[in-house]
Amino acid sequence: MKGVILAAGKGTRLYPVTRHIAKPLLPIAGRLTLDYAFEQLKGMGITEVCVVVGENENAIREALGDGSEYGVELHYSRQIEPKGLAHAVGFAKDFVGDDSFVLYLGDAVYDRSLAEFAKKFEESGCANLNLVMWVEDPRRFGVANLEGDRIVKLVEKPQEPESNYAMAGMYIFGPQIWSVLPDLQPSARGEYEITDAIQTLVDRGEDVRAGIYEGNWFDTGTLDSYLETTAFLLNSQSLMGHEVALNAPIGSSVVIGDRAIVNAGLIEDSAILPGAKVNVNGTIRHCLLAGTVNHDGDLENAIFWGDERN
Ligand code: TTP
Repeated sequence: MKGVILAAGKGTRLYPVTRHIAKPLLPIAGRLTLDYAFEQLKGMGITEVCVVVGENENAIREALGDGSEYGVELHYSRQIEPKGLAHAVGFAKDFVGDDSFVLYLGDAVYDRSLAEFAKKFEESGCANLNLVMWVEDPRRFGVANLEGDRIVKLVEKPQEPESNYAMAGMYIFGPQIWSVLPDLQPSARGEYEITDAIQTLVDRGEDVRAGIYEGNWFDTGTLDSYLETTAFLLNSQSLMGHEVALNAPIGSSVVIGDRAIVNAGLIEDSAILPGAKVNVNGTIRHCLLAGTVNHDGDLENAIFWGDERN
């Protein structure tokens, strides 16, 4: 089995920081976002991994190289434009060849191993197995209707969901997927949807299964979810990098990267990236800061790169 990580998005919801640092390379609780993906794939026995990159290609290649530092053998494929997950996966076809593969979203973090799902896929001999998770309000997700552990219908962001099982960002495919992709049409939002590809497998009578995940799953792509993931991983402790010059009281869930210089009245629930120079004459709360940030007064719910603010 091989691994495919989708990392070609623009990360607009974390602008301006992700204009300067590719989202997959953003540190979360002291480790690169993609390192969490590598750890999960290795737990499934996968070391051959293709990262689907976009405009961030050079930055990602430079940072990750051949992957040996992370215990994986990395390959790269360039998606010309981010036109959806089912579009992105097509760029990994040559890499995957006749194998089965795990499709992993580059900004997903799980707190439990996903290894049992790879095992279940292999043992069942199904065409596709998708991670799903019970959620209270599934309306903003792809929603899976189940009969036993079979997926019988998928609906993207339904107004009136018929099930509480949300698609949870990890998919395992056999080679059947490749014959589906060329027939897909863009959805109402103009993207080639992975849920449409999976629905086509269902419509063709393929064996499509669900693997129910019962841990915590984080999509780290917004300020709230990025900081929520950080707080969870740190268990509300704080993490200081090397050579930090800190002149500020620290509350819970604070990460300060290597060589950062920080002067502030108080910092809590925030991440300050490596090398940042921060002078805030007030409290920093629920922020992601990088570059040289000078501010008079409190800063809350903000993403800054120098004086650029989202
Ligand atoms: P998203 O979070 O939906 O998109 P994004 O990363 O561009 O962020 P934003 O919405 O803030 O602009 O994407 C989920 C993951 O899938 C992410 O790791 C990027 C990846 N992706 C691709 O590789 N190609 C694509 O065409 C899309 C839409 C996403």
